[in-house]
Amino acid sequence: TTKAAATDSVSRSANGYEIKTVGGVTYVDGVLVANKTYGLPASYYTGGLTAECDHAYDNLKAAAAKAGYSLYISSGFRDYYTQDAIYNRYVANDGKANADRYSARPGHSEHQTGLAFDLNSCYQSFGDTPEGQWLAANSWKYGFIIRYPRGKESITGYQYEPWHVRYLGKSTAEAVYD
Ligand code: DAL
Ligand code: ZN
Repeated sequence: TTKAAATDSVSRSANGYEIKTVGGVTYVDGVLVANKTYGLPASYYTGGLTAECDHAYDNLKAAAAKAGYSLYISSGFRDYYTQDAIYNRYVANDGKANADRYSARPGHSEHQTGLAFDLNSCYQSFGDTPEGQWLAANSWKYGFIIRYPRGKESITGYQYEPWHVRYLGKSTAEAVYD
């Protein structure tokens, strides 16, 4: 459920993380988190990738190009209302239970954070392509993680998405990758 925007709060999770809410946005040990538990207000609007994320993407793309691979953003920032339309279209076509395995409810998509984007083709087979393999092995060096790895649905709440990367900054991305 989405936390209320009215009151900022700080608490500690059972496993010791600091959970801080600022203007309805949740930070876990200082990392902005949008997931099935923590949502963003509809008013949270970066209008695009954050400058830091965009700069890191330029570095990622340049490193990929140097290795002979071409990366492009197929879906970047999406505002609350765009996600609402996308999610509801999937629900109408595929049912809620299925949609919830691959599409975030409005307010719960990382695409609304300006810190995540989809690269190249949004098919699980992307993970088997040279580009997808390079991305999985190297994105952490540029501050990114593959946010929904294969076999981790019980943790992330989503099916394998080898194309969806989240910017965390280099040290956190490295720690998550390890
Ligand atoms: N496909 C991811 C989970 C999203 O909708 O944000
Ligand atoms: Zn995505």
